[in-house]
Amino acid sequence: MGSKQRLALGVLVSGRGSNLQAIIDAIEAGRLAAQIACVVSDREGAYALERAENHGIKTIVLGPAEHASREAYDKALVECLQGNGVELVCLAGFMRILTPVVIEAYPQRIVNIHPSLLPSFPGLKVQRKALEHGVKFSGCTVHFVTEEVDAGPIIIQASVPVLDDDTEERLAERILAEEHKIYPQALQWIAEGRLHLKGGRVLLDGAQIESNRRIAHQPPIEAFM
Ligand code: GRF
Repeated sequence: MGSKQRLALGVLVSGRGSNLQAIIDAIEAGRLAAQIACVVSDREGAYALERAENHGIKTIVLGPAEHASREAYDKALVECLQGNGVELVCLAGFMRILTPVVIEAYPQRIVNIHPSLLPSFPGLKVQRKALEHGVKFSGCTVHFVTEEVDAGPIIIQASVPVLDDDTEERLAERILAEEHKIYPQALQWIAEGRLHLKGGRVLLDGAQIESNRRIAHQPPIEAFM
C-alpha cells in the first residue's frame, strides 16, 4: 500500500512518548498500516518530540498559554490536525482533557490508551489506586474518546497481575509493556476498517467475539501463585 492511502494519524503527547515510540516501531516493522501525519505536544521539550524528530516525523508544539480558553486551544488544535490531514487522533499521554470542539470534529475518530482496566480507575494516579484497593489484576485499555473522561467504548484490554510486593513504579512498568502491544494492535484494526460500534460496544469484524480474544496478553497462571 502506498503511503498516501495509509491512515493518517495525529499523535498527541505531553511527555515521555513511549507509546508514540511503540506506534512508530509498529509502522516501521510493517505491523501497522498507517502513517503519522504529525505529533502535537502541549509542552515544549517533551521527550516524545525528540522521538518523533529522530524518525523524521513532523512535530508541532501547541502551548496553552496563548489561548484564552480550553475551547480556543481546542479550536487551534483541530485546525492544526485538519491542516495536516489527520484522519485519526491518537492520545498518547496527552495531559489535557478534550472539549467537545475536538470530539465533534473527529467523531469516533479519537482513541486513547489508559493504564488501568477501565471502567476501574479512570483519571490520574491509577497505579496507586489499584494498590490501595488491593486489586489482584490491573492492566490497560484502548478506547474511543467521548466527552466523559476515560469512559468511551472499549476496543482492547490487556491484564497483568498485581503482586504483593508491587510498588507503583513496578506495576506501571508491567502495564506499560502491555500498552506498547495493544495500542498498535487497536490502531491496525481501525486502519483495516474492522471495528464498528453497536450501542456502547465495539465489535471486531461485525461480530460479538469471545472476550479473551481482545484481552491480548494474559499472564501465565504461575504469576498469581
Ligand atoms: C501511559 O501510561 C498512558 O497509558 C497514559 O499516559 C502514559 C503515557 O506514557 N495515558 P508515554 O508518554 O506514552 O510513555
